[in-house]
Parts: sequence; C-alpha cells; structure tokens
Amino acid sequence: MILNSFGSRIKELRTEKMMPQLDLAKASGIDRAQISKIEKGKINVTLETIDKLAFALNIELKELMNLSIDDTIHPFVKWAGGKTQILNKLKSFLPTNYNEYYEPFVGGGALLFSLRPKVAHINDQNYELVCAYKCFKNKEDFNSLKFSLKEHEKKHSEEYYYQVRALDKDSNYNNFSLAEKASRMIYLNKACFNGLYRVNSKGYFNVPSGKKEKVNTFDEDNFIALEKFFTNNKITITSDDFEIAVKNAKAGDFVYFDPPYDVYPDKNGFVDYGKEGFGKEEQIRLCKCYTDLNKKGVKVMLSNHNTEFINELYKDFNIHVIDAKRMINSNPNGRGNVQEVIITNY
Ligand SMILES: C[S@@+](CC[C@H](N)C(=O)[O-])C[C@H]1O[C@@H](n2cnc3c(N)ncnc32)[C@H](O)[C@@H]1O
Repeated sequence: MILNSFGSRIKELRTEKMMPQLDLAKASGIDRAQISKIEKGKINVTLETIDKLAFALNIELKELMNLSIDDTIHPFVKWAGGKTQILNKLKSFLPTNYNEYYEPFVGGGALLFSLRPKVAHINDQNYELVCAYKCFKNKEDFNSLKFSLKEHEKKHSEEYYYQVRALDKDSNYNNFSLAEKASRMIYLNKACFNGLYRVNSKGYFNVPSGKKEKVNTFDEDNFIALEKFFTNNKITITSDDFEIAVKNAKAGDFVYFDPPYDVYPDKNGFVDYGKEGFGKEEQIRLCKCYTDLNKKGVKVMLSNHNTEFINELYKDFNIHVIDAKRMINSNPNGRGNVQEVIITNY
C-alpha cells in the first residue's frame, strides 16, 4: 500500500510539472525503467532515491512525502443479503453518537467496514465465516490464510472445487487449522455459483461450482488494510446465537441487526444461511431481543424486508421504507428491486 501511494505521488507531481518520465530520469540520475517501476509501486525505494527525486522535482522532502494512504476496507466475501448496495441509505439512519458497536449478524460486514469502529463486537452463527474474521487478528493465521488461498488459486479446477467442497464431510475436518477452514470457505465463496453460502440440512456446504477458469480469492491491499483494522482496534469476534452476542450491550451502545430476511408471501427469497434456517419464530424472538435492548437504553437499528409481518412486529418503533436491489438469490426471479425497512428506536 505504501509503495503504491508513493508511486502515485511521484506520478502526480511529475504530471503537475508536465515532466515526461525521461526528463525526471535525467534530472534525478535514476534509470527511466526504474522510475516507471516506482510509479507503479513495484519496487522499494531507498532514502537516497527519495532525496534525488525530491531534488529533481524541485520540491521539499516533506511535501513529496505527503502521501494519501488508502486504508479503506471492504467485504472479503460476497454474502447473500450483503449491504454494500444500500450502504449510503443505511448510514443516513445511524445514531449521531454511540459507544460500542455490535453487529450480531455480521455476514460480509459491509457496514462494519464502512464505519471502522474502534470498539466492536461482531458475531455470526456461521462458524467458517468467523474463522476467516479471526485470521485477521493474528499475524501467523493471517499469513497462513494468504498462503493457503494462493494454493487454492493455483490448484483450482472443476474437479478440485468439488474435492475442497467435500472436505467438511472428512472425519479429519475438525482438526483443520483456523486458516485452513477460513481459506476453504473463502475459496468456495469465490469459486462457487453466484457467490452464495448455503449448507444442507446436515450442515454441509452444497453450492455447485461457478465453472470459472481462474479464481481470484483475495485483494492483497484490502487484506493488508483488514489486518490493520483488526489489530489496531478492539474487535471481539464470536460465533454464537444473536441473543448471546448482544447480552453485554449497555445503554449508549449501538446494535445493528441484519438478520436473514423475512420472506415475501409471493417471492421465494433466500433465507437459508445455515442448517437451522430463520423462520417466523426466529423473527419473533429477535423482536423480543430488540425490545429488551430498547428498554436497556441501547440504540438499535434493524433491516429487513418490508413485509406486513415485520411491520406488525415492530409497530412501536420508527419504520423507514427504502428501495433496494437484490443481487444474490438462488432463484433468478427473486433478484431485482425490493422494498426494505430500516427500523430504529431513536
Ligand atoms: C443478512 S446476513 C447478514 C448480511 C451482512 N450484514 C452483510 O452486509 O453481508 C445474515 C447473517 O446472519 C447469520 N445468522 C443466521 N442465523 C443466526 C443466528 N441465530 N444468530 C447469529 N447469526 C445468524 C447468517 O449466517 C448470515 O451471515
């Protein structure tokens, strides 16, 4: 990231001064091919080189090093129900201030990564997904994850996909390391049909291959920024039921609930993230949890489909209706525009 920023800065300054690469090469005494590599962020630079470049560009070192480092982060998996599409709308309903951040149905974490809170408690019942999040907190696991993902990329083929998919049926699966479980999940997510995560009634991943010739499993810059985010902030990561995940939330904290959607009576929506499913009973249990948090003085926001059932359940709170686009659905008829609600108690 730092090399990319430095390269972009040199290019930006050189262009400002309308200086071709060859002129900068002559003025600095640095080979033109090397300047090209520096601008692309492909090679490391010494202090001496930086000094020569500053001299040739006729600017102070301090000004040359005024780098804008892009440390934005985004989801590392494509997740059904992911909130990237409606992020701006969602953010317009956030409370103005809060203490600790809770996201008990974190999924791909679109809102978490956009807000980058200093103290957060994230949770998802999907154990493999949580393994992936945990890898960003520990250097050794992080390096093993990257190594293992590169291996999957190298070995990828139709046949290999199905071998990896079947690994959760292997009696040895429980002995897999955190990074191995995480990399299997990320690889399957990137290589499977439509970026869907679905397990069958026995809890085994069962999505067919996406028939891709080449699979890119991660974006290096994003991974580096993710590792920085998870190690520089106080983020607890759990894989529990949502009720357990929010039990320590206190007055002034903020909880964002993004549960599996309630289904429209006329549409076959995707709700089966895990083997247990998330039906009406679960939505009722969640509403009780929402109400209990409200009584404790916790700020709570929840998103769901704009169904009659959800409107009735949350009728005592503020219900905002928004238009959203559904990108992932096992049934193509379920894709397209739908209405969602954002429910707040503030
Ligand atoms: C709608 S997705 C979350 C989407 C996410 N906010 C995003 O931006 O990608 C719902 C998530 O809830 C998880 N989940 C389902 N039942 C749960 C439960 N009882 N407790 C905690 N998490 C659960 C699923 O594994 C799934 O990842």
